[in-house]
Amino acid sequence: MYSEKVMDHFANPRNTGVIENASGEGTVGNPTCGDLMTIYIDVNNDDIIEDIKFKTFGCGAAIATSSMITEMAIGMKVDDALKISRNDVADELDGLPPIKMHCSNLAADALTAAIENYRKKQVNEKA
Ligand code: FES
Repeated sequence: MYSEKVMDHFANPRNTGVIENASGEGTVGNPTCGDLMTIYIDVNNDDIIEDIKFKTFGCGAAIATSSMITEMAIGMKVDDALKISRNDVADELDGLPPIKMHCSNLAADALTAAIENYRKKQVNEKA
C-alpha cells in the first residue's frame, strides 16, 4: 500500500525534534483523526530556511510526509517553500494512497503556518 520511500521516511524520519527560539513555528491538527504536527524553522538573513524540525503525533503517512517536507524545504527561500503543495510532497514520496492524501495536507499546512509565524514576528520586530 505504501511506497518504499514512505516506509523509509516513516521508519527513519529526518529532522525530528524541536528548535528552541525558532524563527517561526506552526502547529496544525486534523480534526477528523486528531493527529497533530508542529514544524519549526530557522531562517537566515537571506530569507533562506537554514534549519527545520518537526514533531508529529500521527499516522505513518503523517510522519513520512513531515519528514519529506523538511528535506524539501531546507535550503529554500521562504517564498519558494510556501509553494510546496501536498501533491508535491506526495510525488516526492512516489505517491500516497488516496485515503492518506489528507495526511500530506497536514505537512504542507504546518510549514505554511511556520512561515506565517516567522513573517508575523518579522513585522513585529520592525514595528
Ligand atoms: Fe491522521 Fe494521517 S490519519 S494524519
